[in-house]
Amino acid sequence: MTQLQLKKLSGYVGAEISDIRLADINDDTFAAIQNALFEHGVIFFREQFLTPEQHIEFAERWGEIDVSRFFNGVEGYPQIAEVLTKRDQKIVIGGHWHTDQSFDPAPAMASILSAQQLPEFGGDTLFASMGAAYDHLSEGLKATLENLNAWHSDASFGLAAQVLDEHFSADGITKPTLHPVIIRHPVTGRKAIYVNDAFTTHFEGWTVEESQPLLKYLYQYAVQPSFCCRFTWSPGTVAIWENRLVQHYAAADYQGQKRLMHRITIKGTGLM
Ligand code: SIN
Repeated sequence: MTQLQLKKLSGYVGAEISDIRLADINDDTFAAIQNALFEHGVIFFREQFLTPEQHIEFAERWGEIDVSRFFNGVEGYPQIAEVLTKRDQKIVIGGHWHTDQSFDPAPAMASILSAQQLPEFGGDTLFASMGAAYDHLSEGLKATLENLNAWHSDASFGLAAQVLDEHFSADGITKPTLHPVIIRHPVTGRKAIYVNDAFTTHFEGWTVEESQPLLKYLYQYAVQPSFCCRFTWSPGTVAIWENRLVQHYAAADYQGQKRLMHRITIKGTGLM
């Protein structure tokens, strides 16, 4: 198998891979990249400058593209969601800890984000390892969570759509969906916590009020700095993250500046 030039970004999550042109890889290199993603949760490739066609071609290696029902697509390429912060925009998309599409019955597997226009300062993205968070739970809480399912909903997108006007649509809002609180990665079997502050509403069989204290504890516990890495973008960089292994957070600290990213999301296969 291809040996990757890989540098870990923190103890539990994130690695930067150099000496690879994503637009020109063979199956062997792709298999090594896949293994790196499943091991590190999120991987980064600088100076790729993918064209929309190259972005789509690379994404299709991972699986079926999930065409966003919320984001505007890039003109001529509906598969690519435009993650845009305009200069005067008050809220930043993804500016809170979340797991992409956790509200879907078969939630997104990977997201592939390609930097298009970056602010002069700020705009980093943080990632938290939900596998490390699971590993460090007490045996007592692990046992409790193993028996729980939680409801996930995209209803919060209604508010986002009001603020983000023509760049975001709430038309796709669907029914809530139920997932295990502890999931197993379908390829590696790695266990991870699967609840997030943006989309999880309550535990199955519990009221919202009963669920909140434990959910709030898990949200804060799981994103403690020791389980995280923080990535500073540079022009042309591509990041790929595994939504079944990490949560992420787009820092909203570049007031008055534009930031434009292109994102493709890959469909998942259902959670175990
Ligand atoms: C996202 O939440 O998917 C976008 C992350 C980012 O813009 O850094």
